[in-house]
Amino acid sequence: MLNQHSIKLALLGGFFVVSAAWLMAGPVLTTTGNIGSSDLIVPSVEATPDERYVGSETCAGCHETQAKKVGNTKHGQLHTLSAWKGKVVGCETCHGPGKEHVEGGGDKSKIFSFQNVDAKTASETCLACHAGKEAHNNFRRGDHWRNNIGCIQCHSGHGSDSVISTGAKGVETPLLHRSNQRLRAMLRSGETQLCMSCHNEVKAQFSKPFRHKVLEGAMNCSDCHNPHGGFESKQTKLAVGTDAACIKCHTDKQGPFAFEHGPLKLEGCTSCHTPHGSSNPKMLKRAQVRQLCFECHTGITEELTPGAPSLHNQAQVRYQQCTVCHSAIHGSNSSRYFFR
Ligand code: HEC
Ligand code: HEC
Ligand code: HEC
Ligand code: HEC
Ligand code: HEC
Ligand code: HEC
Ligand code: HEC
Ligand code: HEC
Ligand code: HEC
Ligand code: HEC
Repeated sequence: MLNQHSIKLALLGGFFVVSAAWLMAGPVLTTTGNIGSSDLIVPSVEATPDERYVGSETCAGCHETQAKKVGNTKHGQLHTLSAWKGKVVGCETCHGPGKEHVEGGGDKSKIFSFQNVDAKTASETCLACHAGKEAHNNFRRGDHWRNNIGCIQCHSGHGSDSVISTGAKGVETPLLHRSNQRLRAMLRSGETQLCMSCHNEVKAQFSKPFRHKVLEGAMNCSDCHNPHGGFESKQTKLAVGTDAACIKCHTDKQGPFAFEHGPLKLEGCTSCHTPHGSSNPKMLKRAQVRQLCFECHTGITEELTPGAPSLHNQAQVRYQQCTVCHSAIHGSNSSRYFFR
């Protein structure tokens, strides 16, 4: 029987084939067709340039600023890669053939400019090349796509012109990206700031006393989320069966343990922790550990989740601190009751 896992693997297999073919052959689409109004020039990623293409040097003659920026990105380097020899490269991969625009002395109506096109149309331009990669192919499955947030809401077409540094325009100082001065992946602004420009509500969560240090720049939203969408709920990077997003850093919680604590393998880390931040120590969902335990260990469904034994008299303080005794709460190799 095909379970979800094998379906995913089958799909992944398919994507790898596609992306390998893409990398070897260069762009495979011959035309993206006509989307929207009939006089809109839609770029077509052609295998080989024909007489409608003028080449990036010609564009650079009038658009020096853009040419400089693009030249610093991977898009500006395609002509140096053997896989792209003899293909359309440079400006016209995104803006379409430029001859008529040039002959018209820069006629705006004869070039695809990304202005007045919806997010999906703009994204299709990028996906003509990038759909080969699993993460981006999945973009059409994500919440961003469904809500008309496209590639160029997060990425700049020509690469970032700014470097991030303390006090740079529009950058709140604590929100600097950890690693560098230059914005990676052509993002429009530092990642945290970018995400929070729309998801402002999470800022409060990351400001709570117990939190992941995202605002401090110690980690990124994309350490846990896939900004490009995917199969998982909330676009978290959860691999099949395990909490990959969390395990990547908290490897000691991964197991396998001889004695697993049920919810870790079933509901996952978020059955007990709030991932962004919390007023409770250890980012627990409840203020007191025992409240959390008693949520499940009610004794009502004894065979599934045993209630705490009667010796656990809750009038006695000593029995209120569950994890003093059940200290290996994430799983144990030696104690079925998670004592160590
Ligand atoms: C002869 C000079 C010249 C050349 C060569 C040229 N352009 Fe332009 N381009 C212009 C001018 C002038 C404008 C501004 C038109 C305006 O603002 O009215 C323009 C505007 C644009 C725009 C913006 C259109 C808009 O809706 O605002 C894009 C995109 C563009 N050019 C891309 C290109 C590309 C790609 C090439 C190379 C294939 C190219 N241009 C070559 C002169 C040129
Ligand atoms: C990876 C796709 C891509 C490539 C390659 C690209 N552009 Fe653009 N271009 C865009 C996008 C997207 C915009 C819309 C502005 C934005 O959101 O970044 C744009 C906007 C423009 C504009 C309008 C004015 C502006 O700067 O916003 C001009 C002019 C332009 N591009 C020229 C060029 C030239 C010249 C080249 C080659 C040197 C080039 N582009 C290469 C995607 C691209
Ligand atoms: C003609 C094909 C083509 C088109 C169209 C295209 N790209 Fe790319 N893009 C590439 C290639 C090839 C690379 C380099 C891939 C690599 O290094 O793995 C790349 C790299 C990137 C990167 C990584 C840059 C970095 O510094 O790591 C981003 C982000 C990106 N593209 C976004 C876009 C966006 C957004 C669009 C649409 C506006 C777009 N691309 C359109 C071919 C394309
Ligand atoms: C919600 C914001 C967002 C949207 C929308 C988005 N991206 Fe990205 N993208 C990011 C972030 C953040 C990174 C850096 C992730 C990292 O470093 O792991 C990234 C990285 C990339 C990279 C470089 C790393 C890689 O995976 O190869 C490429 C290429 C890319 N994006 C292409 C695209 C394309 C194409 C689209 C549209 C189909 C798109 N992105 C839409 C946020 C976004
Ligand atoms: C241009 C605005 C915009 C940007 C930038 C943006 N998002 Fe979103 N995001 C949305 C919208 C709109 C939705 C769908 C509505 C909603 O659930 O909030 C969404 C949905 C999501 C969801 C799913 C929410 C759910 O309830 O299932 C996650 C997770 C998410 N975004 C993370 C990110 C991350 C991480 C970044 C930065 C890499 C980012 N977003 C950047 C607008 C944006
Ligand atoms: C430590 C991992 C982690 C980091 C870092 C992280 N998230 Fe999340 N986020 C999650 C998980 C896990 C969920 C799902 C929570 C659930 O289902 O209960 C989530 C849920 C969300 C949601 C859905 C709404 C909600 O509250 O359920 C949004 C939107 C979101 N995150 C945005 C962001 C943004 C923006 C950033 C960066 C500023 C970010 N996240 C950083 C793990 C993380
Ligand atoms: C990129 C690495 C990374 C990822 C991914 C990550 N964490 Fe963390 N986590 C940390 C670091 C580093 C700390 C230390 C706290 C700090 O920043 O001071 C931490 C702290 C914690 C703490 C609190 C520990 C304490 O002693 O107070 C909990 C609970 C936690 N993480 C759970 C999770 C969960 C659940 C996920 C998945 C949703 C997750 N983490 C994903 C790096 C990560
Ligand atoms: C059954 C509830 C539960 C689940 C599920 C759970 N935790 Fe915890 N976790 C706790 C409790 C309770 C504590 C506090 C222990 C204490 O009181 O010292 C804790 C503490 C932590 C700490 C800080 C102390 C330490 O042991 O490092 C981290 C980090 C952590 N959890 C990560 C995770 C990760 C990652 C997952 C998912 C793989 C996860 N937790 C799943 C209950 C849980
Ligand atoms: C989200 C629900 C949930 C939460 C919260 C939870 N547990 Fe559990 N616990 C379970 C399940 C399910 C089992 C597995 C029962 C089984 O397989 O026999 C289990 C098993 C146990 C066992 C082993 C029982 C046995 O007989 O093998 C102990 C001890 C235990 N939990 C203690 C705790 C403590 C202490 C806390 C609070 C820190 C806690 N649990 C929080 C669901 C939960
Ligand atoms: C002083 C140490 C201690 C403390 C504190 C403690 N326990 Fe226990 N717990 C034990 C012992 C010992 C056992 C094994 C009892 C037995 O052998 O039947 C046990 C067993 C359990 C079991 C398994 C019951 C079964 O039938 O399998 C659960 C569930 C449990 N405890 C939950 C809790 C919860 C919830 C708390 C906090 C309110 C807590 N414990 C606090 C010592 C402790």
